[in-house]
Amino acid sequence: MKSPYVNELEPNKLITTSFLVHSKEIRQKKSGEFYLSLLLADRTGELDAKMWDNVAEVLDAFDRDDFVRVKGLVQIFHNRPQMTIHKVRRMDDSEIDFGDYFPSSRRDQDEMWRELRGVVAGIANVHLRGLLDAVLDDEDVARRYRRAPAAKSIHHAFLGGLIEHVLSLCSLGRLAAQHYSFIDADLLLTGAILHDIGKIYELNYERGFSYSNDGQLLGHIHIGLRIVADKLRGLPLFPPALRSLVEHMILSHHGKLEFGSPKVPQFPEAMMLHYLDDMDSKMEGMRALIESDRQVDGCFTAYNTALERSVLKKELFLNPPAVSKEPVSKEPSSPPPAPTETAPKAPAAAPPAAAAPPAVAVSNGTPKSDSAFAGKLKQALQPASGSEGK
Ligand SMILES: [Fe+2]
Ligand SMILES: [Fe+2]
Repeated sequence: MKSPYVNELEPNKLITTSFLVHSKEIRQKKSGEFYLSLLLADRTGELDAKMWDNVAEVLDAFDRDDFVRVKGLVQIFHNRPQMTIHKVRRMDDSEIDFGDYFPSSRRDQDEMWRELRGVVAGIANVHLRGLLDAVLDDEDVARRYRRAPAAKSIHHAFLGGLIEHVLSLCSLGRLAAQHYSFIDADLLLTGAILHDIGKIYELNYERGFSYSNDGQLLGHIHIGLRIVADKLRGLPLFPPALRSLVEHMILSHHGKLEFGSPKVPQFPEAMMLHYLDDMDSKMEGMRALIESDRQVDGCFTAYNTALERSVLKKELFLNPPAVSKEPVSKEPSSPPPAPTETAPKAPAAAPPAAAAPPAVAVSNGTPKSDSAFAGKLKQALQPASGSEGK
């Protein structure tokens, strides 16, 4: 098990730990020298990192999606934690426990799979149930469906995210079908289970999350239709009109042409699926944004392009840290600032080394000091309380 994780980092202390490289850029200082700008990650979050000196030795030593062991110092820069790297080396996969580096659903994948198969078993329409069983009995589909994220970054971007998202939609769908008596629950649940199934092949999720070649060329809507067509070849008695409804739900679930759907939803179950999908992705996106936000000052998250807004960290707004003497209220963030080309000077919020506060462990939500710096770093690195997932 690696240590410390991103959410356990301590201020003003040299640390040595390992990360997965989410991005690596070689940039130039004003002096013309090169430096490395990295986004490092483990299963608890991401951390900006810069390597200012001795860069030539490590430029080609590792790349994106590699694991690295780093030694460095965490400071606050541009209102976010940032590590200045002193040493870095690439790690071999044999040194790695993959579970340390990839975020995954808090729910057990086997339990979610059983729940999904239970939803299918409860579908009364024999044709729809037969289609779903044919899809989910496919071993490759089943293996990928249990593990796939629901998106690369926007929502449910963690292992098991797709199935968690689908089960959430199934719960919402049952409630919606109770409320609107004209809704066909079997059709709505079938749409929920199949609408994003193309994502199991659209995304790569063996290391970092990225689009596969087919994902880039075809997208998950088209891939989903292919999977359904493939299984329907083995179900010759499936009614053609019902097939069109299922296909329309997959095609139209993004709701608008500009969001990638070639057709807008044209019957109530398709419209409902679109609204539930949109709501579930936005709710989870907002929850995750609050939980993973790395802004140090203020009670708004960084600007989120998918949600097109900053989000209020409500718990922090209602319960501001008592010890902070510096202003905690700022305007919501605008779109992200342009990257700097200069090395950070001493951290704005950190006192001189001689007067540095004791190091503060922020793991397990139990700060061991009340310094303002510790409070800020805790705000930035700890998940906000009271923001548990649905
Ligand atoms: Fe989708
Ligand atoms: Fe979805």
